[in-house]
Amino acid sequence: MRPLTPLLTLLTLPLTATTHPTTQTPQTTPINTTINTTTELRPLPLVIWHGLGDNYLNPSLQSLITLAEKINPGTYTHLIHLSPSSTADRQATFLGNLTTQINQICAQLAADPILSTAPAINALGFSQGGQFLRGYIERCNSPPVHNLVTLGSQHNGISQFQACEWTDLICRGSEALLRSGRWSPFVQGRLIPAQYFRDASSEEEMEAYLENSNFLADINNERLVKNYAYKENLGRLNKFVMYMFEKDRMVHPKESSWFGDVDGSGEVVELRDREVYKEDWLGLKGLDEKGGLVFRTLEGGHMDVDEEALEGIFEEWFGDVEVEFDQWGVGTRILVNQEGNY
Ligand SMILES: *[C@@H]1O[C@H](CO)[C@@H](O)[C@H](O)[C@H]1NC(C)=O
Ligand SMILES: *[C@@H]1O[C@H](CO)[C@@H](O)[C@H](O)[C@H]1NC(C)=O
Ligand SMILES: *[C@@H]1O[C@H](CO)[C@@H](O)[C@H](O)[C@H]1NC(C)=O
Repeated sequence: MRPLTPLLTLLTLPLTATTHPTTQTPQTTPINTTINTTTELRPLPLVIWHGLGDNYLNPSLQSLITLAEKINPGTYTHLIHLSPSSTADRQATFLGNLTTQINQICAQLAADPILSTAPAINALGFSQGGQFLRGYIERCNSPPVHNLVTLGSQHNGISQFQACEWTDLICRGSEALLRSGRWSPFVQGRLIPAQYFRDASSEEEMEAYLENSNFLADINNERLVKNYAYKENLGRLNKFVMYMFEKDRMVHPKESSWFGDVDGSGEVVELRDREVYKEDWLGLKGLDEKGGLVFRTLEGGHMDVDEEALEGIFEEWFGDVEVEFDQWGVGTRILVNQEGNY
């Protein structure tokens, strides 16, 4: 961490600044508007949501805590989990209702003494964890997210279900149900990947999706009635960085990692040519116009990301920001540099 910057005195205007000179002087004593604040360069806390079939106690995830500390000393890292048990946390990546799961994570982050008192946090989502973090931002965003980075996430859903390992019974059981009754309330309320299934190649599929999708159709604001809070919350991000794996064969289509869509003729329609962007249902256009939307690629297959690539990501997006503290030492906001970001 770099040293403290000198004390800064901030003068704010009194609330009655609109008082006209001819009006009476207020009877009450003026509010003391001199507030001393300090600023400090430090990394924001980091939350990480893992992917399908993984669990937060997996050593490769636990090692990210050390990596974050190594790259940005002083980083507090929280690994999102739906259960303290590794088995149940893994199971929750296949089974559950995403509305309930996201509510649970909103409560988990809000109850953490460090996260909840930070002026903002950074967020990293692996695969499906990326669109779930976006759900957290749109629905709760308390504590608010500064930079959201997603790796191989399915922001526009999947139009094919991934092949399971032959030995993986939970996955195979889910897969069988997904193929048969994906739009039934039973499946939508219980199987995670069904809640972000989306196939735009047929009209009937899209109708069924808009009517029944328990997660993606809502979180992508695709229904007739838009949720303005979703747009506002996502638009508050400093950076939304989406990494796509060039040789991704798990996510269909892989451009879903960049919000790409596949039309009836099988062509990929990129985000900037889509209605969701042009009509700005999610605040992505606004974010793009202020330089906050970042499209990146990684060379390998799905989630083929080595330590070196992760170090680069941590360095670029989760580094020190200038945090302002009030006279009681509470971090209140992030100061933005002249380029409009850190
Ligand atoms: C405002 O507060 C500061 C710090 O407590 C104090 O030094 C100053 O005298 C106060 N000013 C007024 C007008 O009360
Ligand atoms: C604010 O800063 C000034 C100048 O450094 C100092 O004299 C004063 O005591 C500070 N007030 C508070 C409330 O900390
Ligand atoms: C998912 O859970 C929410 C909140 O409990 C509930 O309102 C909704 O009906 C559930 N969805 C399905 C498809 O069961």
